[in-house]
Amino acid sequence: KKTNPTIVFIFGGSGDLNHRKLTPALYNLYVDGFLNDQFKVYGLGRTDYTDKKYRDHLLEGIQLFSRRKDDGKGPWKEFSEKVHYLKMDAGAGTAEEYSILDKAIQETEKEWKVEADVLYYLSVGPNLFPIIAKGISTIKSSHKEDKTRIVIEKPFGHDLQTAMDLNKLLAGLFQEDQIYRIDHYLGKETVQNILALRFANTLFEPIWNNKYIDHVQITAAETVGVEDRGGYYDTSGALRDMIQNHILQVLCMVAMEAPVSFDANEIRNKKTDVLKAIKRYTNEEVKENVVRGQYGAGWMKGSKVNAYREEKGVDPNSATETYAAVKFQIDNWRWQGVPFYVRSGKYLAEKTTLITIHFKQAPNYAFPAEAVDAWRPNRLTLTIQPENDVRLLFQAKRPGQTMSLNPVEMVFNYADAYNEPQPEAYETLLLDAMMGNSTQFMRNDQVEIAWKVVMPILDSWNSKVPVSFPNYSPGSWGPEEADALIAKDGRSWTNSP
Ligand code: BG6
Repeated sequence: KKTNPTIVFIFGGSGDLNHRKLTPALYNLYVDGFLNDQFKVYGLGRTDYTDKKYRDHLLEGIQLFSRRKDDGKGPWKEFSEKVHYLKMDAGAGTAEEYSILDKAIQETEKEWKVEADVLYYLSVGPNLFPIIAKGISTIKSSHKEDKTRIVIEKPFGHDLQTAMDLNKLLAGLFQEDQIYRIDHYLGKETVQNILALRFANTLFEPIWNNKYIDHVQITAAETVGVEDRGGYYDTSGALRDMIQNHILQVLCMVAMEAPVSFDANEIRNKKTDVLKAIKRYTNEEVKENVVRGQYGAGWMKGSKVNAYREEKGVDPNSATETYAAVKFQIDNWRWQGVPFYVRSGKYLAEKTTLITIHFKQAPNYAFPAEAVDAWRPNRLTLTIQPENDVRLLFQAKRPGQTMSLNPVEMVFNYADAYNEPQPEAYETLLLDAMMGNSTQFMRNDQVEIAWKVVMPILDSWNSKVPVSFPNYSPGSWGPEEADALIAKDGRSWTNSP
């Protein structure tokens, strides 16, 4: 598996995502031998950089954030010769500005004596997506549909209407199979493993339905606050930032029907079917099934932290939620009556992303009452981070002369099982985009239906005067109302694997 001769242009080349994720991902792909010798990456931005200064800046990112470090004398030295910087004002959007890129492509193709694949990566604010997309469409060398791809970072739209507008604009400029809408959760190893676990084993699928599963939980908890992203976050919130995209995508992997092939559209059709089946809530049902929270001031790991409303870039009266919990219902044959409880928040007690499948109680009537003291239903836990593992909780007989049952766990840990480093999500996704595989990217309809799922919640919140925020303390597991949301169904959140 190796890329074709490829040129990557990164809009937002001097930005944070490139520094932390994109360049480290390309560097690791290079070290792992996935990049063609004919490979070039151009960072694009308004900052003044020489190639040398730009490379030094990126090397710092490798040292801080890459899974492989490099002191500048290792493989980085060779790789960095493939890295260039072009100063341009992409937001100006003039054909003249974009002709710099045309020139770079032509010169490179002349040097390589082949037609190059070209990947444009939009690692910029969403207000620039339309301008840059139009700019790219003016580049003559990029009129080869099978050689040109465009990767769009999140957020894809602010709501259904803006997502539809953006889809429409892109559809006027490119073919759908040239457009790669990124959701980095889909590149995570353990998220990809959901498909293997479910569909490469006989064991799980027969019981993966409402006959045997009581409910499902998906938690994406973070121990960071909004950091220096207050300005963006205050226009977004937990529902838009995490649930509309990452969590719904993970939910689709858990709930989808078996695909008949690994064709990109086949997998995405099956996921889209799940989104279509999620019940759209009325205003009244939003109150019953959704909880939002905002953190106040407090302490995280011994340090004092600001309330959300005191964060830089945040409105002091902000109604934006930094926590959201939703009970979703999937109205199809398989999942009728099985709630999917999902939640995500900033400044929570632990950094963890986990999926728990809670099975129904076994008909364990034969056991004497005293045997089942510590009885717990079977549970399958998929931990996505920080550890990557799969755990199965079941009952065993405690050693001794009496029949006494005890919950025990069978654990499969990625790091222990495979003595191989795991690629980062951005490595997997960048390689897929360069290879033209869009399976793990969002299709136009997928992104719109995901918006349709959350719009009733956003609309219902909008029509209300802000609730009594802040309502949870940093370092907690979120607002009490979220515990009540699940407790009223006689269940409780699983916080740790
Ligand atoms: C991003 C969100 O998409 O995902 C951030 O914008 C969030 O707010 C991040 O912190 C979480 O990603 P991960 O991979 O650290 O779980």
